[in-house]
Amino acid sequence: MRDYLLFYVNGKEQRVSGAEVFAPLSSYLRYGQSATGTKVVCAEGDCGACTVMIGRLSAGELAYQPVNSCIQFLHQLDCSHIVTVEGLKDKQALNPVQEAMVDNHGAQCGYCTPGIIVSLCSLFDCKQPADAQDIKDALTGNLCRCTGYESIITSGLAVDPAGIRSLKELYPEREMVAQFRSHIEQPALIEHREQSCFVPTSVKQAIEFKAKHPDTVTISGGTDVCVNCNKRGLEPAAIVSLSNLSGLSEVQIENGQLVVGGRAKLATLEAWAREEMPELYKIMWLFGSPQIRNAGTLAGNVANGSPIADSLPWLFVMEAQVELTGTSGIRLVNINSFYKGYKQLDMKADELITRIIIPLPEPQETLRLFKVSKRQNLDISAFTAAIRMTIADNKIVKAAVAYGGVGPVVLRLPKTEDFLTGKETTAATFTEAGELARSEITPISDVRGSSDFRLQLAENILLKFYYESACEREYACQV
Ligand SMILES: Cc1cc2nc3c(=O)[nH]c(=O)nc-3n(C[C@H](O)[C@H](O)[C@H](O)COP(=O)(O)OP(=O)(O)OC[C@H]3O[C@@H](n4cnc5c(N)ncnc54)[C@H](O)[C@@H]3O)c2cc1C
Ligand code: FES
Ligand code: FES
Repeated sequence: MRDYLLFYVNGKEQRVSGAEVFAPLSSYLRYGQSATGTKVVCAEGDCGACTVMIGRLSAGELAYQPVNSCIQFLHQLDCSHIVTVEGLKDKQALNPVQEAMVDNHGAQCGYCTPGIIVSLCSLFDCKQPADAQDIKDALTGNLCRCTGYESIITSGLAVDPAGIRSLKELYPEREMVAQFRSHIEQPALIEHREQSCFVPTSVKQAIEFKAKHPDTVTISGGTDVCVNCNKRGLEPAAIVSLSNLSGLSEVQIENGQLVVGGRAKLATLEAWAREEMPELYKIMWLFGSPQIRNAGTLAGNVANGSPIADSLPWLFVMEAQVELTGTSGIRLVNINSFYKGYKQLDMKADELITRIIIPLPEPQETLRLFKVSKRQNLDISAFTAAIRMTIADNKIVKAAVAYGGVGPVVLRLPKTEDFLTGKETTAATFTEAGELARSEITPISDVRGSSDFRLQLAENILLKFYYESACEREYACQV
């Protein structure tokens, strides 16, 4: 059993044990490595000032993605290569992205600038040109308070991708890959005072550790847990970090169903949805920011159990099965019965979510997903909804409706579903269904919206579904 973590920072090997393992990467970089280019503003994944690139083994080589270093703790980073803004310079000179930011006045106070540079360098690492929309998408997780985005986008548009030296060119990876390969198969246990952190390599090791330490906090992407550590003083006595588990990171079709591994990143699901399920892609694209989707997982969204988790209404109407693996075996729980109350799950202390199995919509079905938030990007939902319907000869054959943000858990609306079944698809049907939906929920008022606002949304969203899907059907009949 290893008693240290191994990773690289800007090409230099680091072996770490003790207190540092339980600290955010941003602190390690700034205070341990004097890499103060990485800034910390919000410490909760919202501003991107702390963005760094993380390279991990994927199909035998390193694949780099931008993440927020304030909510990546060292115990999540074993066998990875971290590249900070200092590590992006090219032979002691500014790289083409940095040059473009200088030439186009892309920085004023400069506090957000290192994070913006890292995100843009990630976008251009493939040496392909990017348009304004690509640049905006890449910068969704980077907040600039003083320069204004116009000159930052102009800077991005001025980058000549041919002049970029990719991370693979800046950091030849043979030695790192060899080290990671030899380490990634050994579990690590790091203990410091009252805290212990286990980095297992298999599900069996993980669940045995959880069975021995029932208060263990499982950490996958850390985008929920690490915010709680930074902002709510969470200091788990025992941690199991899933970063080195073999397998469980794929998103694939098996026996006609979508199977999302318990460690699969939201970004992997987003990439799948982009090609295969545009309606889901719409929601995934709005989920946090690229940095959040590169770290966070679907299993984490499910296990966190927030009533405004964006994936849940979709999983509810699709009747997804949560696969739980514990020391007494594997069981499947329909997501509709997984939540027993606010953040109360049908999951035992030793269990892990190993897969989420999602039936695909039939070709004749209509599926619509909705997210309502105060601003479009990087915002927590005030209200979410998923509506799935089979419509034949203008009649509703089957209906499933799930709402989030209207109670302590995501809710299916059985009375509304029963009412809709067998009805004609008319505006009057959906207006009446909306009134019924209102009566099935008791939302609270909070910073994201009042109870009245949410009740109105619950009513209106059914009519929105009707008009959007009627337009779609009409269009399909015309072509
Ligand atoms: C800036 C920011 C923006 C965000 N935006 C959104 C958003 O738009 N929509 C949204 O829904 N959420 C959002 N989130 C919340 C968060 O990103 C998601 O809930 C994400 O899916 C969590 O995944 P994770 O792997 O990071 O979970 P973690 O933080 O690692 O874990 C979350 C919970 O799940 C448990 N867990 C994780 N994996 C497993 C497993 N395999 N088995 C059992 N338990 C497990 C952990 O113990 C913990 O209780 C945002 C968070 C931040 C910080
Ligand atoms: S400091 Fe704001 S995202 Fe990390
Ligand atoms: S340059 Fe000041 S916050 Fe962006």
